[in-house]
Amino acid sequence: MQDPMNTKPDLTGVAALLPGALRPRGLVVLTGAGMSAESGIATFRDAQSGLWARFDPMQLASEEGFREDPQRVWDWYAERREGVRRAEPNAGHVALADFDRRHPGVLTVVTQNVDDLHQRAGVAETIRLHGDILRDKWLEPCPRGLGCDPATAVPGRPPRCADCGHLVRPGVVWFGEALPPQAFALAEEAVRRCRLLLVVGTSGAVWPAAGLAALARRAGAMVVIINPADSEIDADANHVLRGTAATLLPALLGAI
Ligand code: OAD
Repeated sequence: MQDPMNTKPDLTGVAALLPGALRPRGLVVLTGAGMSAESGIATFRDAQSGLWARFDPMQLASEEGFREDPQRVWDWYAERREGVRRAEPNAGHVALADFDRRHPGVLTVVTQNVDDLHQRAGVAETIRLHGDILRDKWLEPCPRGLGCDPATAVPGRPPRCADCGHLVRPGVVWFGEALPPQAFALAEEAVRRCRLLLVVGTSGAVWPAAGLAALARRAGAMVVIINPADSEIDADANHVLRGTAATLLPALLGAI
């Protein structure tokens, strides 16, 4: 089924796995930045074009970096938010959403992406492991326990609380921070239960998300990676399809 060099797409072989996944919550698709690359949103680790090739993640994606220069971090996220708002779901997002409409209750998307392209394409259930770039949250809880909505903060770069001066920050997970516990628990449950896990467009460099492929495999699911390049978790997969999300997902899911 797989060519010996493990490099040529064997779509037919992988497509043959899909009927076995057509059961409630039978298919999980774990996505990373490569999923949105063809929508014009930069990945993190691709040489040249990746964000972390051009920017220092510790300055821009850590609490320390934010405390050091809140305006620099706020402005960088403001630009990325604009990029996300301008972007449109690509053929890969659309193929997942179409599959979901044809087979309700089968698909769970687990994404590391902070954009909203799976939701805008129309996937019913997306578990977001790394937060939502379009949301704001407080840097720290209000000392007076007022539970104010960050949307009511005084506008600024970043906005701050009119009463206590607390800062608003982007609603994403930064380096050194825990994932939203409920989201990760749901993701683990979904991969333990599925028959087929497609891992699309992730380098597999960031944990604990990267560990979901091995978890699915241990729990008895088939694991298929879709990526034009090597990833750090290729060894956890039964099959590796070399190609892009917008090409291979429609080809794979369109027929079923
Ligand atoms: P990376 O930038 O680490 O990896 C992107 C992957 O997508 C690479 O393996 C590419 O080969 C692949 N890729 C590129 N173009 C593709 C395409 N058109 N179709 C399919 N795959 C393609 O991104 P992630 O693995 O998502 O964390 O990174 C994980 C986390 O690290 C991110 O969620 C982010 C980052 O720091 C947070 O924001 C918390």
